[in-house]
Amino acid sequence: MSNNRAQAPIHFPKDFLWGASVSAHQVEGGQHNQWSVWELENARSLAAQAPYRYGEEANWQSVKRLAQHPANYVSSKAVNHRRLYEQDFDLLSKLNMNAFRFSLEWSRLEPEEGAWSAEAEQYYRDYLQELNHRNIEPIVTLFHFTLPVWFANKGGFERRANIKYFNRFALKIVETFGSQFKYLVIINEPHVYAGHSYLDGRWPPAKTNRRAYYAVLRNLAYAHKQVARLVHGYNRGHLIGSAENVPYIYSGDDAQLSVRSALAMQYVREWFIRKTVRHSDYIGLNYYHANRVYGYRIHNPNVKLSDMGWDMQPEHLQDVLEHLSEKYKKPILITENGLADEQDAARRWWLTETIKAMRGAIGNGVELIGYLHWSLLDNFEWDKGRWPRFGLAAVDYRTMKRTLRPSAVWFGGVIKKIRG
Ligand code: BGC
Repeated sequence: MSNNRAQAPIHFPKDFLWGASVSAHQVEGGQHNQWSVWELENARSLAAQAPYRYGEEANWQSVKRLAQHPANYVSSKAVNHRRLYEQDFDLLSKLNMNAFRFSLEWSRLEPEEGAWSAEAEQYYRDYLQELNHRNIEPIVTLFHFTLPVWFANKGGFERRANIKYFNRFALKIVETFGSQFKYLVIINEPHVYAGHSYLDGRWPPAKTNRRAYYAVLRNLAYAHKQVARLVHGYNRGHLIGSAENVPYIYSGDDAQLSVRSALAMQYVREWFIRKTVRHSDYIGLNYYHANRVYGYRIHNPNVKLSDMGWDMQPEHLQDVLEHLSEKYKKPILITENGLADEQDAARRWWLTETIKAMRGAIGNGVELIGYLHWSLLDNFEWDKGRWPRFGLAAVDYRTMKRTLRPSAVWFGGVIKKIRG
């Protein structure tokens, strides 16, 4: 597809968004939601399973102490972004960034059904104001894997009848904070959420039920459409999308079976986009992997692996961008992209390849709105806890001190040059 890699100098659009992403639960600290409840119930068993789950990873020796400690699996203070967000916004400015993606924590804003927290409202109002003052474009996510306990107890997104509560929350968000942001991400990675929470049982509510999995996916697509209708109806110029994790899946040889399987796998991963694209202003893309298929199985080159054992093929971002753009004819916002790399050994290479891939895609006609790196900070990586280090800034978990990694300092310089 992209054998036509860019040759002439290609310019990023003047208003291109350069930024980073986080989610409330992973950074804020002090949450009480369905995840924090599950963490407390499962920390011990997650610690005990660690050698079996991660023992084969190359970095096992350096992470094993943390990975076998139950406290690693409890988000607790996370990285205390709740108190330190101004410091964290300073980091964005240091990196010459003009955008920041984060989620508004539903469980903080509506801790009990129908009870809106004035305190949380004020907190997020100040938070958004800080970003606006600094000329950093806020990109607001509504659902990034965490739910109020009361909503989860009603069956969460498994029940169609519950979508009305999410709609009510969404409408309240645009009514309350709508003048402070333009970009809205309704749902983060529906496939990943439904898969881990309802199919393989790794995340709360830890179900392994195919029917529930499909119900959740369908209900999330329905929720996206409903919220899009409400927000567009509100008519304040918001730009709406969801963020889906779409790998680039390609066949490793010319065999019919490989070619067909790769196409089929790609098609499945785009289910949510197909369902919602007509109700979106842009496609949110989280890009972390490519998958190479031989026959009907994935066999990746596995030449370069991240700390989490993920095969790293950043250059294929260009192929996904071109494929999605050609097929769905919508602008694309890269809502997440990054790697777990504690030693900062591969991040600069990854970013270099990523910038090349974006330039190539723009040169080939992709309408790209922006790039948001995952993540600004090391943070709480769900069922894996603290050892995976995705941050442009390293966080010392004892002192909560942030230090920009060398690759980040370099990246900040590149952004400065590009933005001119
Ligand atoms: C999620 C993030 C997560 C990241 C790295 C994405 O699946 O949206 O919350 O931390 O990938 O695993």
